[in-house]
Amino acid sequence: MSVKECKIISLPKTSDPRGNLTFVEGSRHIPFDIQRVYYLYDVPGGAERGGHAHKALHQLIIAMSGSFDVELNDGYEKKTFHLDRPYYGLYVCPMIWRELTNFSSGSVCMVLASNLYDENDYYRDYGEFLAACGTRSGDVDARESHAKWRRGKVLYHLAT
Ligand code: TYD
Repeated sequence: MSVKECKIISLPKTSDPRGNLTFVEGSRHIPFDIQRVYYLYDVPGGAERGGHAHKALHQLIIAMSGSFDVELNDGYEKKTFHLDRPYYGLYVCPMIWRELTNFSSGSVCMVLASNLYDENDYYRDYGEFLAACGTRSGDVDARESHAKWRRGKVLYHLAT
């Protein structure tokens, strides 16, 4: 799967003098049924979340309050999104390494997920993730390349 499939989805929003209301219906507004909802909050300044990929899980990430950045990487290409509105969701397909950073004070990150929690669905080791993606890693140190990628100095090697 590719980061090209990951995109911002504009969610329905109704507004009246009492305020705004946004809703999400599984398989109607997003490309999966919702089995689980979880949220990150009280994230300390400078903390990073994520740092893993999922084998089969589809997710929608929403900044319910405040803002943060989401860096996506399919082993070949990376893409960074800044989320700061509760009526936009970032759809993340399976097999995408993600890093969530730059949480603003008081921000809340809500995630809608296509399956119940299953630790077996995770890649928590970046080298294993790359191997599963088929990214050529025999001639590069995957961890070092990833560290450089995180520092923004190089795009990860494209496998050919
Ligand atoms: P993790 O997915 O690593 O969090 P993040 O993506 O924000 O870095 O999960 C952190 C811990 O919480 C880990 O021990 C697993 C547990 N957890 C659950 O028990 N259920 C869940 O639905 C989620 C998302 C995490």
